[in-house]
Amino acid sequence: MSGSSPVVDEKLKLRQKVKNLEMQFISLLKSLCQIIDARDSYTRSHSVHVCQYALAIGAELSFSHKKLKQLEIAALLHDVGKIGVETFILRKSVALDDLEIMAIRYHPLLAVRMLEPVKQLADVIPFIRHHHEHYDGSGYPDGIRGDQIPLEARILTVADSFEVMTSNRPYRKAMTPQTAIGELQEKAGTQFDPRVVQAFCIAFEKGEIPVSSHGEA
Ligand SMILES: [Fe+2]
Repeated sequence: MSGSSPVVDEKLKLRQKVKNLEMQFISLLKSLCQIIDARDSYTRSHSVHVCQYALAIGAELSFSHKKLKQLEIAALLHDVGKIGVETFILRKSVALDDLEIMAIRYHPLLAVRMLEPVKQLADVIPFIRHHHEHYDGSGYPDGIRGDQIPLEARILTVADSFEVMTSNRPYRKAMTPQTAIGELQEKAGTQFDPRVVQAFCIAFEKGEIPVSSHGEA
């Protein structure tokens, strides 16, 4: 005789199905963002790395499973709007002109336009929209500040900036993780939320920020 009722078995099966679907969705997002990141040969795995860092920060801040899942999706999709930015701008090794800067700065809003029809993503779209806001209000696209910026977006800002600083770029060599952490700490309170920087530093000290696979050439 089986130890569980048919109803319990059905619930377990359903839960496994949902889990499998979630995993397939995340795999699909990873493939999508690698296609987008590949347009810029210097940041091939950018979004996947940003996702790892964001999840480490979220775990440090005791995010629930649901909030970590939302953060994971937002991190993987944060730069999806770059699909609308010309490749030559993304790869440019000299200073951008005003129009090119405008084109780059439009990518969070383009992401919103692209993702809005997907109602299942409604909760994560604000995190993507605001991933270039600064804690002191000097960022874009809306120039909001402090707690006006969703916490998840403040996490993405730190994760994104650390990834960019520790990767080789057309215009400069990768920083060491220690130098990049120094930059995060210096800009805590202006560009970055100090609480998020602190959580990142603790996660780094615990070895939960994997940086050995990229960065310093
Ligand atoms: Fe971005």
